[in-house]
Amino acid sequence: MKTRHFLTLQDLTPEEFRQIISRASELKKMQHEGTPHKLLEGKVMAMIFEKSSTRTRVSFEAGMAQLGGHAMFLSSNDTQLGRGEPIEDSARVISSMVDIIMIRTFGHDIVEKFAEYSKVPVINALTDEYHPCQLLADMQTFFEHRGDIQGKTVTWIGDGNNMCNSYINAAALLDFTLNVACPQGYEPDSELLAKHQGRVNVMRDPKDAVAGSHLVVTDVFASMGQEDEQEARLKLFADYQVNPALMSLADKDALFMHCLPAHRGEEISEEMLDTEWSVVFDEAENRLHAQKALMEFLAS
Ligand code: CP
Ligand code: NVA
Repeated sequence: MKTRHFLTLQDLTPEEFRQIISRASELKKMQHEGTPHKLLEGKVMAMIFEKSSTRTRVSFEAGMAQLGGHAMFLSSNDTQLGRGEPIEDSARVISSMVDIIMIRTFGHDIVEKFAEYSKVPVINALTDEYHPCQLLADMQTFFEHRGDIQGKTVTWIGDGNNMCNSYINAAALLDFTLNVACPQGYEPDSELLAKHQGRVNVMRDPKDAVAGSHLVVTDVFASMGQEDEQEARLKLFADYQVNPALMSLADKDALFMHCLPAHRGEEISEEMLDTEWSVVFDEAENRLHAQKALMEFLAS
């Protein structure tokens, strides 16, 4: 059988996406109730990080331990990957020793190449283009708080970045409308936009974009790898802050999400994470449960 990878959400069918979300909520209940669920006993995961992380590292490492397996952290600084060993050689070697691999890196082509040469499932734990693991957690969070997202309207505010691209994929798979409010020149991937015309509406004014929306989402203005652009982006994105005034234009039951880490006073106002709209800390916790469901789906 062909090895399954999770490089973007498009690697799942709509049914599989829903199945992982619902399994994530079951695993969450088991963990909260202290019910053992060692479903991946004896399995080993390699976690390759070429960028920083808090949530992703802790959720995968804790999740694998709770499933009865073991996760090993590999930083590119301390492995031969950082010294230029080819991706294809690293993929062949690492995948001959472990059962599942997750990678956080820069270009999406790196995870694609790694997966091409890997004998075991590869999970994209964030590239410059996509962050599909975060979407599993975000969608689980929406379902837990508000039920099915089908037919709802989600608004993305700010940079058309890796998170935004993954929201486009989620919209297509789970059948919701996505409004994207971003400055000119900071739109999400043009091929994805072309493919999902009619489902994704690119707008300029955040106020127009959030009107009637059931979920409002944002992210940092400058992603990892764009540190040099931070100052310029702060000015360019000045009108794209999510704050209570903006949220009050959305649907009365609207939720607010942010993948974190957040910059208070920049893409969100100081108080935004602590408002009644915000479910960001449930969203962060759900990284653990959603990825446990994903690992079970790929590796058991
Ligand atoms: N949201 C997210 O992926 O967080 P980390 O960068 O801390 O892993
Ligand atoms: N867009 C952000 C997400 C971090 C979790 C980044 O790529 O840095």
